[in-house]
Amino acid sequence: MSAPVAMPSQEGGDCERNLKAPDNQQGIPDQDGWDAILWQNRLQYRRPLFDSVKALIKWKPNMTILDLGCGTGDFTCEVHRQAGVVTTLGVDNSMNMLAVARSHQMAGLSFECHSIDQFEPAQKFDLIMSVNALQWVPDHHKLFGRFYEWLNGDGQLVFQLPLNQTNPFFEIYAELIRTPPYSTFLQRVNGNARGVLPTKQYELLLEEIGFTQHSVQFQVHDLYLDSWTEVLDFVHATQFVHARTILPAALYKTFEEEYDRRFWNYINDNNELTRQPFFAAKRINIWAQRL
Ligand SMILES: C[S@@+](CC[C@H](N)C(=O)[O-])C[C@H]1O[C@@H](n2cnc3c(N)ncnc32)[C@H](O)[C@@H]1O
Repeated sequence: MSAPVAMPSQEGGDCERNLKAPDNQQGIPDQDGWDAILWQNRLQYRRPLFDSVKALIKWKPNMTILDLGCGTGDFTCEVHRQAGVVTTLGVDNSMNMLAVARSHQMAGLSFECHSIDQFEPAQKFDLIMSVNALQWVPDHHKLFGRFYEWLNGDGQLVFQLPLNQTNPFFEIYAELIRTPPYSTFLQRVNGNARGVLPTKQYELLLEEIGFTQHSVQFQVHDLYLDSWTEVLDFVHATQFVHARTILPAALYKTFEEEYDRRFWNYINDNNELTRQPFFAAKRINIWAQRL
């Protein structure tokens, strides 16, 4: 497994000021446990997840777009191109991810480093999107109320959240972070689902905030990967951010080895279930529009 690459900081945003050492008191890591290259190389597996949320967008001419937790910017760029928009802003708080995002050079497309919970945009948007990032941001009631204020009339909110808690590979992770000595460091970390509310609460929440139209869909995406090693890499890419940022380096190494050992035991012990390299990605897709 390659280590995350520390990239030089670039223009735009307040990350340099705000990013701090991992905050073990609250279990909130800074996000630079992201391995941007590993992430980008897994585009083929992220593609069906993104396509399902992109299908919800009602395209309009000249949209201004905000992508929160844009990561390596592959989808930000795609939406920008497809919309033929005036401006698109991608926001993320990982300098590793942004360094790759900024390699997408298109007129009207820019990327800034901010933490979503502290971000205050300088303009309003026609579309706010977010793909598998808001689970790290707490207090969705407050957060979505802010999004409502950031939208132009007729503006849309489109986002996807993961619901991976019952996936066996995430269960192995959750069990390991509760095990000493890792639990001393990671006990307050709740996998990658800190902010996610029960699915049925989202309709109510959007209605209360004032979105006049909304839909909440639960979907399971069956991802068939080339090998179990690919599945393992995918889990490393998506789930290990907390452990990578919070654990001391030597302990992280044993954590990773122990996770891998348990992963392979699971594969060997479940022959019937594991004939084909497979990952069931459970997601909530949400679309909402304000008047
Ligand atoms: C699973 S990746 C998804 C990236 C991209 N949306 C995609 O689908 O390829 C989650 C991204 O959210 C970012 N992120 C997580 N918490 C964040 C926060 N509080 N503020 C800004 N970005 C955040 C991470 O740095 C990471 O790039």
